[in-house]
Amino acid sequence: MAEYDVVVRGGTVVGAFGTTRCDVGVKDGRIVALAERLTDADTVLDAGGLLVLPGGVDSHCHLEEQMPDGSVIEESFETGSAACFAGGTTSVVCFVQQWKGHGIAERYWEHKRRGATGMVDHAFHQIITDASDLALEQELPALVADGLRSLKVFLTYDPLHLDDAQYIRVLAAARRHGMLVTVHCENYHAINWRTEALLKAGLTAPKYHSWSRPPVVEREATHRAIALAELVDQPIQVFHVSCEEAAEEIARAQARGLKVWGETCPQYLTLTAAHMDRSNPQDGPFEGAKFMCSPSPRDEAEQQKVWGMLKRGVLDVVSSDHSGSSFHNSIGKAAAGRDANFSQIPNGIPGLAARLPILFSEGVVKGRISLEQFVAITATNPARLMGLAPRKGSINVGADADLVLWDPKKQVTLTNPLMQHVIDYTPYEGMQVTGWPVATLRRGEVVMRDGKVQAQPGTARYLPRNPYAFIAPRGILSNDFDAAPPA
Ligand code: URP
Ligand code: ZN
Ligand code: ZN
Repeated sequence: MAEYDVVVRGGTVVGAFGTTRCDVGVKDGRIVALAERLTDADTVLDAGGLLVLPGGVDSHCHLEEQMPDGSVIEESFETGSAACFAGGTTSVVCFVQQWKGHGIAERYWEHKRRGATGMVDHAFHQIITDASDLALEQELPALVADGLRSLKVFLTYDPLHLDDAQYIRVLAAARRHGMLVTVHCENYHAINWRTEALLKAGLTAPKYHSWSRPPVVEREATHRAIALAELVDQPIQVFHVSCEEAAEEIARAQARGLKVWGETCPQYLTLTAAHMDRSNPQDGPFEGAKFMCSPSPRDEAEQQKVWGMLKRGVLDVVSSDHSGSSFHNSIGKAAAGRDANFSQIPNGIPGLAARLPILFSEGVVKGRISLEQFVAITATNPARLMGLAPRKGSINVGADADLVLWDPKKQVTLTNPLMQHVIDYTPYEGMQVTGWPVATLRRGEVVMRDGKVQAQPGTARYLPRNPYAFIAPRGILSNDFDAAPPA
């Protein structure tokens, strides 16, 4: 029997803290050796001229979520897995919905069953839309025992949003259970007020989506989310930061020593509100719906500032927020008709496969971030923050052999078929990128080679997360009374 099942030979191995020329030896799905010349392998993959990256960790994407109206998010675990592998991602943290008025357990176990039908390794964030005793006191402990370690709350959106009282209850429950809280920060009432006024004025096209939620709406909610998290002494991650004002709130919190992390997404680094003002002969201004997500993409100046916040490390994770709705069918963007006003069009854009190529091309190739930062923000940092490290997110002896063989020179024009998701469009159609994954290995198995995904459905693994110190509360309270002591 050979010493290694697989050896990746002759590549440049990239980690968050440095880059080395060495081979990678894999046995039973794990990395067992990093050395200059490894022999005696069943399979040798030639990585000459290529970078060897840890498989991407996408800690924010929406797959097969079951909605309260009976619908299910179009991207399934199976199709989403293919898109992940096509783009060099090997692990995801995706979401379980809570339906208002219900608990969380039933949906959680059902979603876990669905997750097993795909190919990509995964953990879950539990969305809390109803901070009831049933959800937080009675049902949550069993989910925590199953390895659930993060909650998501929305401070906007009907019917998802929580008011301050409910948000505080979630923070307190998370603190008691040793969980991370992730937060969608936009002000619900401010958006509703502006939306009503825009609609009354007849301003209904997709481009007015961005007018309904300017940066101040995001900044205010980010400030409030952080202040209440400080009150409870509960670590949080602010999701999908789109603008400097919101990132500055995070920077200020970090400077005060709070455990507050910030994530952004490729859309806030490459798209602008002007994309929502596009039109085409068949669809007219509805074309703009392809770019609608929340928070809204801003302008080019703001993009550069968000890049700056990444470079500074204020934002330290880039995830896809893949939340696609197809453009051409009647269940996606056009569910309320192609003449619907902007507030009736589903938010969210697809991006599972585009995340790494866009970050590499726009970030590393254009000199905005280093190669090591690229690996940190797309794999190592999300794995550490989500409690998946050291098993995922870096190339270490003992880690799962999740590897991407990356051609740093390959030039590709992004098209929807290349994305391999089920959504029928990509907002990045026609974008030129330099740098592309030529092979993806998941636990030592080649699951994508030259664009061909070859993993078997049903081979995904659920990633239970043990308690981890990185997200432990600081133990610093406003006074001597602890209203939510950790268990
Ligand atoms: O527009 C977005 N981001 N939709 C997805 C749901 C969310 O807010 O994460
Ligand atoms: Zn969100
Ligand atoms: Zn999302």
